[in-house]
Amino acid sequence: MKILVLHGPNLNLLGKREPEIYGRQALAEINRELRETAEELQVELRIVQSNHEGELVEEVQKAGEECAGILLNPAAYTHTSVALRDALAAVDLPAVEVHLSNIYRREDFRSKSLVAPVVWGRICGFGSDGYLWGLRALVKKIGESGGKNRG
Ligand code: DQA
Repeated sequence: MKILVLHGPNLNLLGKREPEIYGRQALAEINRELRETAEELQVELRIVQSNHEGELVEEVQKAGEECAGILLNPAAYTHTSVALRDALAAVDLPAVEVHLSNIYRREDFRSKSLVAPVVWGRICGFGSDGYLWGLRALVKKIGESGGKNRG
């Protein structure tokens, strides 16, 4: 079973970027922990980070053909991207939305997620642990549902 892990814009700067908000862990370290968890769960990961909206959309579309689920932190595109939301709705895979920070404790514009209505579940505010818990929840859900997000 293959899972797409998608990291959105500026997450390549984790560790250096506003560490008081996003923590001191680099993305490579988070990805290493994700791969360890994936090994334990016996799933394969395709991990992609992109600063480009279209590339994220294309990865979601490709996942529709190749993957059983999607774990994503859309970062700033959470709050702006109709295209990403539409891609997630189109592929209709179980998806989990992750945010390192608690987006509801921050600026008002971060309280709105365009992606939220089309994902299965969401985790925010627990730093990088949210990715690991999200992966576990996603794999469990796929096992229970046979892979379909709705219905
Ligand atoms: C984020 C929260 C977003 O509002 C922000 O644009 C990010 C990261 C988070 O992980 O907390 O880039 O998704």
